[in-house]
Amino acid sequence: MKTKDKRFTKLDARRFGPWAVVTGASSGIGREAAHQVAANGLNLVLVARRGEVLTRLGEELTGRYGIAFRVIEADLSQAGAEDAVIAGTEDVDVGLLFSCAGTGQPGAFLAFKSERLREIVQLNGLSHLVLTHHFSQRFARRGRGGTLLVSALGADSGIPFHAVPAAAKGLVNTLGRSLHSELKRSGVGISVLIVTPTDTPLVAKMGLDGAAMPMKPMPVEQCVREGLDGLNRNRMIVMPGLMFRVMNRLVPHGLVRAMTGNMMRKSTNFVS
Ligand SMILES: NC(=O)c1ccc[n+]([C@@H]2O[C@H](COP(=O)([O-])OP(=O)(O)OC[C@H]3O[C@@H](n4cnc5c(N)ncnc54)[C@H](OP(=O)(O)O)[C@@H]3O)[C@@H](O)[C@H]2O)c1
Repeated sequence: MKTKDKRFTKLDARRFGPWAVVTGASSGIGREAAHQVAANGLNLVLVARRGEVLTRLGEELTGRYGIAFRVIEADLSQAGAEDAVIAGTEDVDVGLLFSCAGTGQPGAFLAFKSERLREIVQLNGLSHLVLTHHFSQRFARRGRGGTLLVSALGADSGIPFHAVPAAAKGLVNTLGRSLHSELKRSGVGISVLIVTPTDTPLVAKMGLDGAAMPMKPMPVEQCVREGLDGLNRNRMIVMPGLMFRVMNRLVPHGLVRAMTGNMMRKSTNFVS
């Protein structure tokens, strides 16, 4: 018997079930997405590098919601790593892709090795493109399904000392906006989640915890709930948090760029 948790967005199970793929499911936003999707009774394909963490999460969600799960270990910063996800989901009927795997990497652009730049773009941009392409084809054949693409605030304005992750998220952002219109008639939903500062382990990894942030990051539950709700309602863009939406409208991009660039420059020392 499946349990439904009323705190979470109720997803259209016929459209998005019976299986959902969540990348970046071992931590933060992806992990919370796995919880909220499982609460809807959908089975899960959990994707990230840390297989043991994913297995423990899958077992917990099976115990709580009675769902089935499978784990796919993949390092999506490596070109072609998406093939494991594609092969590992061939035999299940997937209706939802929560495309979330990614990370931040503050640093001076000129100091990066070019190989690392490629990995950042592959993880934060190209892997989302490849998986969206594959699953959208499958959703179009079924006539239903959808993808929530995880992008970031600042992808449009640009972020000094975080230029390459921001550029890769910009790819995701623009791709999602285009596909939202292009795929509408095939029954394929595409929404872009513009993640505003959210309380996950990434914040500390970036050196942005404590006093470094001008505004408190929002709870991860809220970010995911608003994101899934936006996909369910077929919104093109979802930006969680009223305060962030207001600020995004009122504050000019030049000022945002100056402020975030300053934060990133200071945090550069904290990241290996
Ligand atoms: N939190 C924020 O304020 C914020 C703001 C803007 C954008 N975002 C975006 O939101 C997404 C989720 O971030 P988060 O805050 O939840 O961070 P997080 O807690 O660090 O989670 C990142 C997830 O991505 C996975 N991942 C990282 N590198 C990977 C790789 N090479 N291959 C496969 N999976 C990988 C991690 O799993 P493994 O380590 O097990 O591989 C983990 O599950 C990211 O795309 C991030 O850029 C977050």
